[in-house]
Amino acid sequence: MDRKLLIAANWKMNPVPDGAFEQDSPYKTHSAVDVYVFPTFLDLPASIESKIITGAQFGRAEETGAFTGDVSMQMIKEAGCIAVLCGHSDRRAFHGESNEDVAAQAIAALEAELHPIVCFGETEEERDSGKAENVIKAQLKPLPTESDIILAYEPIWAISRGDPNKPAATSEDAQEMHAFIRSQLPEDKRESTRILYGGSMKSENAQELLTQPDIDGGLVGGASLKPDDFRKIVETAIKLTTNN
Ligand code: PGA
Repeated sequence: MDRKLLIAANWKMNPVPDGAFEQDSPYKTHSAVDVYVFPTFLDLPASIESKIITGAQFGRAEETGAFTGDVSMQMIKEAGCIAVLCGHSDRRAFHGESNEDVAAQAIAALEAELHPIVCFGETEEERDSGKAENVIKAQLKPLPTESDIILAYEPIWAISRGDPNKPAATSEDAQEMHAFIRSQLPEDKRESTRILYGGSMKSENAQELLTQPDIDGGLVGGASLKPDDFRKIVETAIKLTTNN
C-alpha cells in the first residue's frame, strides 16, 4: 500500500486546543504522515501562520454572490488553506446539503486547487434496515471520483457528538465498508484514492482502525480537541508507516 496516511483534525465549532499553534504542536504535519487541521473560519489565519496544514470546514460552490454568511472555495484558497471539508454530516443535517450540493462543492474545490475531503456515511436506521450500501452508492454517484479527491467514510451512528464513550465502528465493519467504497471508484483511481475513517477515532482504537488495508487515515473530531490524544493518534500512524 503506498497511500500516505492522513490524520485530519476537525475542530468543528470549538476553540483552538491549548498549545495547538505553538512550536511543539501535535497538529503539525510530518514527513511520514499528513496531518491537516480544520479550525473555525475565524481561526484559519492563526493556524496558517503557525505553519499548520490548514483547511476550512465548508466552502460554497459559487465564486461570489448574495450568499450571506458563506465563503467561496476561491476565497478559502486565497486565505492560504490547502483543503476543505465537503458534506460533513453536520452540514448535511443542519444546513440541508444534498448529495448534489456536496458534489458541486467538491468540483469547485478542485477548480480552486484545494483538496476536497468529501464526507459521507449512513445513519443507524439505514444500516439496520440493510440500506447502507445503497445510501453510500447514492452519496458517491455525483462526486468527481475520477479526480484526486479524498473520501471520508463517517457512519453517522459512530460519530461521537461530544460523547467520549461512544463506540467507533469495529475495525471489521469499517474495513468492510471501506472495501465496498473502494470497489465503487473508477478503476484507475481505486488504488490511489485515500479513504479516511471518521467516527469516534481515538488513541485507543487508532491502531486497530489504521491497520485495515482500505483505511488510509482518520477524520478525528472529539479526540482532536485533546492535544495529547491527538498526538498519540498521529504517533500511531507514524509508527505504522515507518514499520511498513
Ligand atoms: P468524532 O467526529 O471523532 O467526534 O466522532 C468525527 C467527525 O464528525 O468528523
